[in-house]
Amino acid sequence: MLRFFSTILFFQFIFFKSFSQTTIPFAKESTTSETKIPIDSLSYIFTNTQELKDELETFNTFLKNANQKPLSVKENDKNTVILILDKNAKEEEYHIQLKRSNVEITGSESGVFYGLMSLFQWMTQSAEKEKIVLKDNIHDYPNFSWRGLHLDVGRHFFPTGFIKKYIDILAMHKMNTFHWHLTDDQGWRIEIKKYPLLTAVGSKRKESILEKNFDPYIGDKTPVEGFYTQEQIKDIVKYAALRHVTIVPEIEMPGHAQAALAAYPEFSCDKEPTEVWTQWGVSEKIFCSKDETIQFLKDVLDEVMELFPSQYIHIGGDEAPKNAWKKCPACQRNMKINHLKNENELQSYFIEQIDEYVTSKGKSIIGWDEILEGGLAQNAAVMSWRGEQGGIEAAKQHHHAVMSPGGYCYFDHYQDSSKSEPLAFGGFTPIEKVYAYNPIPKTLNPSEAQYILGAQGNLWSEYLQVSSQVEYMALPRMCALSEVLWTGEHRPGYENFKTRLKHHFNTLDKYQIYYSRVIYNIKADEKTTAKGKEIRLIAPFKEGQIFYTLDNNHPTTHSTFYQANSAIILPKNTTLKAQYFENNQAKSKIFIIKNENE
Ligand code: ACM
Ligand code: ZN
Repeated sequence: MLRFFSTILFFQFIFFKSFSQTTIPFAKESTTSETKIPIDSLSYIFTNTQELKDELETFNTFLKNANQKPLSVKENDKNTVILILDKNAKEEEYHIQLKRSNVEITGSESGVFYGLMSLFQWMTQSAEKEKIVLKDNIHDYPNFSWRGLHLDVGRHFFPTGFIKKYIDILAMHKMNTFHWHLTDDQGWRIEIKKYPLLTAVGSKRKESILEKNFDPYIGDKTPVEGFYTQEQIKDIVKYAALRHVTIVPEIEMPGHAQAALAAYPEFSCDKEPTEVWTQWGVSEKIFCSKDETIQFLKDVLDEVMELFPSQYIHIGGDEAPKNAWKKCPACQRNMKINHLKNENELQSYFIEQIDEYVTSKGKSIIGWDEILEGGLAQNAAVMSWRGEQGGIEAAKQHHHAVMSPGGYCYFDHYQDSSKSEPLAFGGFTPIEKVYAYNPIPKTLNPSEAQYILGAQGNLWSEYLQVSSQVEYMALPRMCALSEVLWTGEHRPGYENFKTRLKHHFNTLDKYQIYYSRVIYNIKADEKTTAKGKEIRLIAPFKEGQIFYTLDNNHPTTHSTFYQANSAIILPKNTTLKAQYFENNQAKSKIFIIKNENE
């Protein structure tokens, strides 16, 4: 029998390229096992523990979604994945052990789930003619407790099916927090039973600004609408819980409130009718600080807290221009009565009332770093987005913080310097930079550093009109962030990550997740000489080849082969077009350099 089994293995090695298991995020600790298990030999899955039945089923759902055959749920003595609950294991920690032809996954419920997500990656990461052979035992646990990804559904609405897919994407990367940005100037997206106009009016806008035509304004004449009913939200919360993802809802206040004020203008300072905003940017229309508005927001939060079991409720707090407050008798009276020196202190007073209320319900608020201005509310956590300073200040004041600095964590920024990228917000946040991020600022001492819960990638949707565009901007930068947050300082470096990402793309392909192939970009060194431009091309990986043309045609594998380190001389009025290929398949965008006559 043993000989028969090794014969099978032998043939597999001849006909297939085999490689050992890798994951994203990279596992913390692994040791070579005495046993080797070809991934395709696993046919069964089994647990004795009622608590792990959901994890087992969810894992099989992941396989089905990736067009893979689910494992048969059956107790078997070989070729079986066995799930074991360890009541003493830490949250999110797991062990994987190869035992004869079986794979044992042991841990807490969330830990076993993450072990299964590793297994899911192994079962989906091979290309045709490749085989994965499990060779390592693993012990794994995360560096940070807040491993987040955000989505703005205010600027554009995304259907529930996509929200679920987004949660799947988080879970398969061992990310555990989905920050759902539900309200903004351009749309209110959550049903609130006590205030039906929030969605009847606030979830619809007549059009959006066309590209970046701010001045003069040009609209696209295309209405945008949509909201989530409370029933849909309950269903999504349950769906996320099965994937060990906590949803943190965000209700913006006092700024980014124009859609709410289109529905209920009485909660603004001037009470003037307004419309759901069609532009991007920061609207002057903010909530008035009067008692009626605070009561309205408490009512809204009552329904929100009932729907979302998360400890944290995000209350926004960013980008609230104070011009309306300066002119408003009610706001000015509020400042006088409460001895507030300026409008920043009035914003703090506003947030403090919300903080007290949310705290009285056993929950905590988190807000963008502007909530530090004018004094931080007693129990508030801070989400640092204007750089790291907000997070640093919060930690020094012994308040929790989540790092989301624009330069590292804003995935609505460009990820590729190529001119052929789809229109985006601006900025440039390449994947290498995300991978190099350390959420603990150097200026914090170890006791302050404990207040940094983790980090989060943000996807603002001004320029993300469809879900495939959200996926493209999120991935693979989120893969890099997942490794920063899970593996932390144990991560093995960007070059190693890039190689694993190539296998990981097979998983994303099978799940029909769209992503950027920016890691395949060709880089170049360019010099001007008497003969023309002298160019040296750098391939992204050693195993492929670059082909190029100088006659304006698209490169193919029949074009000129680029010899590594050689110089291409580009005469005047000539265009170099180069592309990177692996196994005769184009992998990169076409790289273009022109030498134009001045
Ligand atoms: C933000 O990007 N306005 C938090
Ligand atoms: Zn006011």
